[in-house]
Amino acid sequence: MFVNEDNITDLAVQRWATAHSPRLAELMSALVRHLHAFARDVELTEDEWMAAIEWLTAAGRLSDDKRQELILTSDVLGLSMLVVQLNNKFSPQATPATVLGPFHIDGSPAAPYGFDMSDGIPGTPLFITGKVTGAGGDPIPNAVFDVWQADADGAYESQIPDIDEARLRAKYRAREDGTYCIRTIAPRGYAIPMDGPVGDLIRRTDISYFRPAHVHFLIDEPGHQKLITHLFQEGSEYLDSDVVFGTKHALVVRFVEQPPGIAPDGSAIAEPYLHAEYDFALEPS
Ligand code: BEZ
Ligand code: FE
Repeated sequence: MFVNEDNITDLAVQRWATAHSPRLAELMSALVRHLHAFARDVELTEDEWMAAIEWLTAAGRLSDDKRQELILTSDVLGLSMLVVQLNNKFSPQATPATVLGPFHIDGSPAAPYGFDMSDGIPGTPLFITGKVTGAGGDPIPNAVFDVWQADADGAYESQIPDIDEARLRAKYRAREDGTYCIRTIAPRGYAIPMDGPVGDLIRRTDISYFRPAHVHFLIDEPGHQKLITHLFQEGSEYLDSDVVFGTKHALVVRFVEQPPGIAPDGSAIAEPYLHAEYDFALEPS
């Protein structure tokens, strides 16, 4: 059959419905249908489509094992967070999930209770304490979980030249009774990487390109659904305009100012510090 404007969508959908895996057939047919509907809806011009292809090419060229412009694209479109919500429908008692982001690295150094992952990097000391539990509140003994964050200038190590070792990240182990204690420095809110195609596009809008101050967590315990989440500092700027749509009310915690004295891990501390308390409740699998 010859192609015309009226039949091309059905022809392309039928062709892609021949994918050998039923799920791939479903995904590709729906993608073709929605892409064609988009082009028809906005009456896409050839110049606009070529500009989009050049933009995608630049995003791909910029991406490598340290920089992922296509994940960032998905994040700022709200697509990453939509996929998180579709796939992590936890019970109301469980800690909600949010975006992974591009700065997680496997293989962080192991850290016992109270370990200081700031390793002398300047900033206000921050202790985060609490329990890792099931959704019913029962402690999960010895849970091991990844923690990572930006520094007091809002930078991750991959954004700082000449740094190759792990910085402001660690794999903590909770104690037998589920309690954990993280020692770090207070993170700062930051701008997402703006020196690539995502930045070029965002600058042509009124979108705020900042994230509120947060610490990332990844907890993957047998018998429970993997939890990828953040804790956000209460009162932080950008909580209601997070450029990647990652904030949730249940993840906002107070960083309480404390005078020098005895720190939450029982050690002496000679300077004022911040203390946040949060219990992570994991959804059973
Ligand atoms: C992050 O929080 O590390 C992040 C998430 C999405 C885009 C950029 C950064
Ligand atoms: Fe982050």
